[in-house]
Amino acid sequence: MDRRTFMNRSAAIAAAGFTANMTLSQRADAYEGVMINGLSREVAMPTLCHPDQERSMLPPTAPVPGGAPPAKLIAGMADPRLPPMPERPTLLDFYRYRNPNPSHSLQSANLAMQKGLDEKVVLACLLHDFAVEAFIRTDHGFWAAQLMAPYVDEEVSWAIQKHQALRFFADESVGYEYPRAYLEWFGTDYEVEPWIRAEYEAARTHRWYMTSRLITLNDLYAFDPNVTGIEIDQFEDIVGRNFRQPREGLGFDGSPVAHMWRTLIWPHSFL
Ligand SMILES: [Fe+2]
Ligand SMILES: [Fe+2]
Repeated sequence: MDRRTFMNRSAAIAAAGFTANMTLSQRADAYEGVMINGLSREVAMPTLCHPDQERSMLPPTAPVPGGAPPAKLIAGMADPRLPPMPERPTLLDFYRYRNPNPSHSLQSANLAMQKGLDEKVVLACLLHDFAVEAFIRTDHGFWAAQLMAPYVDEEVSWAIQKHQALRFFADESVGYEYPRAYLEWFGTDYEVEPWIRAEYEAARTHRWYMTSRLITLNDLYAFDPNVTGIEIDQFEDIVGRNFRQPREGLGFDGSPVAHMWRTLIWPHSFL
């Protein structure tokens, strides 16, 4: 794991607040405390560029089978380090060949399916974290909603966007609690940004509120190792009925988001 902290060694020593009467061991404890606090602040890398092999389709140092790569890859030039994409890629192709770890979303959608929820909700659960898994982590609800918007019911893309804010707010009426994992990740005194609160306030009175709330309710904040063997194929019918797959393939239909899908096909193209 490549951890990058905000704090270098001299900054950590300064923050540890050494005093003249501290023993060596007290100084070591204070220094360690500062460094441990720093560890929880991991600067996220875009998924496509992530150096951790488990999280990326292509680690930057991955060797090229069969010899040296061209000096610069350009869009349209297959990168031999990546699984080839079909000429007219479907949504499922992106799950198969450009999403290194869709387990979280597959488990969420599976849960929604087992509960017999509406197909739109199952689809929203399936797609809600696509950006985190395969594209960009920052503002992931917005990115995923934008990627999907031309192809799904407006209610689905709306729900995907709003889940980013709703997950921070409990709703006892449906049994949604503030995720315990967030206390660990963000700290007990974490407060959301004003714009996230505004997103929540706007969503809670909206007619589609419950669709987005159901995403958070079926969201899993810890990977369940006992649930295995869920494949994207399980959702093929639901995707077929609820995702307007463009005939030209995602990335080539001239939609306002086609470039985003092409970026997923050729993530390392030079220009
Ligand atoms: Fe999410
Ligand atoms: Fe999620």
